[in-house]
Amino acid sequence: MEVKKAVIPAAGLGTRFLPATKAQPKEMLPIVDTPTIQYIVEEAVMSGIEDLIIVTGRHKRAIEDHFDKHLELELALERKGKHGMLETVQDISNLINVHYVRQKEAKGLGHAILCAKTFVGNEPFAVLLGDDIVRAKKPVTKQLIEAFAEKQTTVIGVQEVEDEVVHKYGIVDYSSSDEDLYKIRNLVEKPSLEEAPSNIAILGRYIITPEIFDILEDTPPGKGNEIQLTDALQTLMEQEEMYAQAFSGKRYDIGNKLGFLEATVEFALARDDIREDFKKYLIEFLQQDTDMLEEIAVAE
Ligand code: UTP
Repeated sequence: MEVKKAVIPAAGLGTRFLPATKAQPKEMLPIVDTPTIQYIVEEAVMSGIEDLIIVTGRHKRAIEDHFDKHLELELALERKGKHGMLETVQDISNLINVHYVRQKEAKGLGHAILCAKTFVGNEPFAVLLGDDIVRAKKPVTKQLIEAFAEKQTTVIGVQEVEDEVVHKYGIVDYSSSDEDLYKIRNLVEKPSLEEAPSNIAILGRYIITPEIFDILEDTPPGKGNEIQLTDALQTLMEQEEMYAQAFSGKRYDIGNKLGFLEATVEFALARDDIREDFKKYLIEFLQQDTDMLEEIAVAE
């Protein structure tokens, strides 16, 4: 079976990024000048996804409006002769047909996925977390779809992480590996370093078979009192083989402040229109002596 549908959960409360996320979803935080979720939708499109659903919460409007047409703005840009910007704005609404479903309460990632059950139906589908961006030559979702094409079973995107951050992720216990593809034996959600079976962490991209939905319906709240996707995947593993694909690319967690800042700097340096000016600024800034940097830090 082919993977043509994708789910982007974007209904979390984003408490790590308050107060910015009080009245807007963290998925709308811009990296340079583009909302995080747009990079993710573009990844889905470049991976061959044809139907997309975004699971939204209370702040649904901003996301929906972003992928909708904005006639007034388009007319104004046309009148002012800003054709390049007009094209950029039109391209966003022409990217793909986006559907929405509302998660009424942020009961966890597993629950958010369950909200997309009717949309997905009986097909394998991709999940792209709305606050994880990956810069990669080949889109990560495409890398996972290729692994799925070979194995025809659930494939989870992973990368090796440092000891210090193991407790923040779902961690994979594997029985064998073939280059970048691991056969999963077990999954542990946010283990302590002592409990962790490896350093291979689940990082925001999945291809999942539709059998997950029945399981999610019966999955009780787990860690953090949330319905955890990892718990449901563990049950799914009793029914089918499951693989973890170590994807290539650099991943940024926009939901945490440092990840957001790293993405901002690195995406800016990758942009033709501002690279040179920004590089010059950064070099000059970092050449200031330590005392000067301290002064800037306390100037606020
Ligand atoms: P996170 O755990 O990073 O999101 O979920 P969060 O709960 O918003 O973050 P903090 O810890 O409070 O800062 C990963 C992804 O799953 C979505 C989030 O929007 C994010 O894209 N999510 C999470 C939901 O859609 N619904 C939920 O109930 C929880």
